[in-house]
Amino acid sequence: MKSLQELQRNWEGFAQTDPLWAICTDPNKRNNRWSREEFFVTGKSEVKIILGCLAEVGVPIVRNSPALDFGCGVGRLTRALAAYFPECWGVDISPTMIALAREFNQDLPRCRFLLNEQNQLQGLQDNYFGFIYTSIVLQHIAEPFNRKYISELVRVLKPGGTLVFQMPDSLRGSLLRKLRARLALRSKVKSLLGGGKLFRMEMHCLEEAAIRKMVAESGARVLDVRLTNSADAAFCGKLQYLKQEPESGYVSKQYCVVKH
Ligand SMILES: C[S@@+](CC[C@H](N)C(=O)[O-])C[C@H]1O[C@@H](n2cnc3c(N)ncnc32)[C@H](O)[C@@H]1O
Repeated sequence: MKSLQELQRNWEGFAQTDPLWAICTDPNKRNNRWSREEFFVTGKSEVKIILGCLAEVGVPIVRNSPALDFGCGVGRLTRALAAYFPECWGVDISPTMIALAREFNQDLPRCRFLLNEQNQLQGLQDNYFGFIYTSIVLQHIAEPFNRKYISELVRVLKPGGTLVFQMPDSLRGSLLRKLRARLALRSKVKSLLGGGKLFRMEMHCLEEAAIRKMVAESGARVLDVRLTNSADAAFCGKLQYLKQEPESGYVSKQYCVVKH
């Protein structure tokens, strides 16, 4: 990925073709086979798991402040967050994802959806959100863009607020397995489109040590790191914490960060 325009073009392609499957890539739900109800239930469970994890770590959630869902897609997680926070913002780079998010969540006036085509979170104030969540988003964004978004997420987080984000740390296994993992999503999309235009869902990693350094430099602290199944090629929206790193495939980590 050379530019944000290219990233946007790819996500627009997915959003216009098979938006729910592009978000939760369960092979059985390809070709618009997700039911909307079933899809949004996965968001509810995921948010419950995240808040349960924070309670375990002992991080108090600032419930009277707005929440942000970065890379919101059609609002699977924004909608679920609205049950806990007075105002929930979903931000995405794809105009079609944002249009669908507005349509699917029009019953929830507490949810607001914003198109952001820049590497800055334009229009979002410093120190505004008490809670920020981003899941299965940063993994699709190349450096240096992903790093800039992490520092932007800390910028818009309130002091004492919590940011939870997910990012693969590395890709494990033999060369052949690594190649297969990298090509998995790309080839699925090609067949989905009948060999027509190819939209790419790239995967990227950032090592934990680099993330810790970057977070510290942005004025925040990593409180907890967990292994997750989020970077599996067939992630179907059922978030799980793993006890050990997979032998092959992406090692996905969830970071819980608090701002000073
Ligand atoms: C796999 S989907 C995840 C959607 C949502 N987080 C969820 O779990 O339901 C990835 C989303 O990230 C969005 N995205 C990708 N790059 C982005 C960027 N640079 N800024 C904002 N959104 C981005 C895509 O448009 C897409 O909607």
